[in-house]
Amino acid sequence: VRVDELRTPALVVDGDAFTRNLRTMSAALPGPRLRPHVKAFKSTAIARELVAAGHRTLCGATLRELAGLAIIGIGDDLLLANESLDEDHLWEVAASGVRVTVAVDSPETIAVAAAAGVREVLVDVDVGMPRCGCRPTDAGRLAGEARAAGLEVRGVMGYEGHLMTTDPAAKAEQVAAAMEPLAVAHADVGGEVVSGGGTGTYAVNTWCTEIQAGSYLLMDSHYGATEVPFEQALHLVATVISVNRSGGWAVADAGLKALGMDHGDPTIDGARVWFCSDEHTTFSPLDGGPLPRVGDRVRIVPAHVDPTVAYHERFHVVSGDEVIDVWPIDLRGW
Ligand SMILES: Cc1ncc(COP(=O)(O)O)c(C=O)c1O
Repeated sequence: VRVDELRTPALVVDGDAFTRNLRTMSAALPGPRLRPHVKAFKSTAIARELVAAGHRTLCGATLRELAGLAIIGIGDDLLLANESLDEDHLWEVAASGVRVTVAVDSPETIAVAAAAGVREVLVDVDVGMPRCGCRPTDAGRLAGEARAAGLEVRGVMGYEGHLMTTDPAAKAEQVAAAMEPLAVAHADVGGEVVSGGGTGTYAVNTWCTEIQAGSYLLMDSHYGATEVPFEQALHLVATVISVNRSGGWAVADAGLKALGMDHGDPTIDGARVWFCSDEHTTFSPLDGGPLPRVGDRVRIVPAHVDPTVAYHERFHVVSGDEVIDVWPIDLRGW
């Protein structure tokens, strides 16, 4: 099958760019120095590629992601890099027999982990992004509570998500400032693991023993605008369904129901995107270039890879114009 023959909108992954991205990161962070984050691609096929490249420690944001890996037996050290109170679902993952570690930041999440039969936890620490994580000064106490509940405390986690796309000149300093309280918390908690980081900070975060990166494999225009050494491997292929010659715009058949929009509009090489609506992207060629024709295909670069992927059921892996493989996006849902 050729890309031109795909039903649109369709997610395509350039297999060579994907492999280069994978290798670039694996060279920088080999084996367990990287804990690939499956939330960015939600696909066991990609998780298998990572395991084949030596990354057997994986993490996820949802129990669906973790269960999908655990049940098939992909990876041998899985981290739920998130809090959960879903005891039944946690129990299912813990009972799979795979090594499973869960992030905790409260007495409630500790109690649920213990009741679900989870054996190991990381104490999640707030490092400046207003989301999950306890106060650094509470980490030691929570670790004590976890141990008293019979849990093994492997260390700490602290995700500096607010620093992923900051200016490179300021990034190292800001990451250092965010990691300082994590190091203090780690001293109180003990254990060997300091987990955090992502595609935007992996090169400067020297505090974490393992980096939780995921977007680097497929990439998006948000990260593409930063200094990271990864290529755009993912495109959303759409068909031009209408052209307005007097107005100078064209309309493709993919809109915000096929694209994560929280980081803004997607981009199209050589064109200006005007806006997206439910099932449409309106765009015009740059510099007075020719308008496309009805029926032409366009390649849209999503602004945010993770939510874009979650809208779709499969990746079409391509080599040039040929579809050479299909990777199901089988870890969607919760
Ligand atoms: C807990 C956690 N760790 C790591 C990441 C890093 O992901 P990425 O490589 O996409 O920046 C994320 C992304 O949101 C996250 O939520």
